Amino acid sequence: MNHMDKDVKEILFSKEEIHNKVAELGEKITKDYKDVDNLLVICVLKGAVSFLSDLIQEIPLPLVIDFMDVSSYGSGVSSTGEVRILKDLDSSVEGRNILIVEDIIDTGITLNYLKKLLLSRGATSVEVVTLLTKPSRRQKGVDVKYVGYEIDDLFVVGYGLDYNEKYRNLPYIGYLKEEVYS
Ligand code: IMP
Ligand code: MG
Repeated sequence: MNHMDKDVKEILFSKEEIHNKVAELGEKITKDYKDVDNLLVICVLKGAVSFLSDLIQEIPLPLVIDFMDVSSYGSGVSSTGEVRILKDLDSSVEGRNILIVEDIIDTGITLNYLKKLLLSRGATSVEVVTLLTKPSRRQKGVDVKYVGYEIDDLFVVGYGLDYNEKYRNLPYIGYLKEEVYS
């Protein structure tokens, strides 16, 4: 029991379930990219940090990681619809095969923007792996090759996901009590 547990209404995915899912995704990705020698894995900050860290350990291939922060969110729980680059990549994407690692796809605005941006910069291929997706919330279509779990339209925290920058360090993913964010 830690001091954040009291704000969680229900645990959706335990640490162990997440671990198994990440291993499964890593195995698929490894098969698909076994002949690719310039794989660039891009982590979307900050929510995907936990996922990236575990996922790359399940992909025993030569790869390089980089980070980008593209936010369509203010500090609340709903998208503002506006995309801003808060931190750009260090590396060039030209001629690279890219795998974007995302925590959750909500409206799709962030990823739709990011995929187009990387292709316009000359990436050879851009695929997406997301741990979570909320299909009922989609506003922009995005082609997502690897999906961990489809979830209902409720706000989740933990395993990297935050509410007002908190709860990222919960080892599980759970629904936050409404009273915490209303
Ligand atoms: P989109 O552009 O609307 O798809 O927003 C995606 C981003 O919104 C994710 O990368 C998260 O940072 C954030 N987000 C969306 N839903 C949730 C949630 O339930 N919990 C925490 N963050 C979320
Ligand atoms: Mg995010």
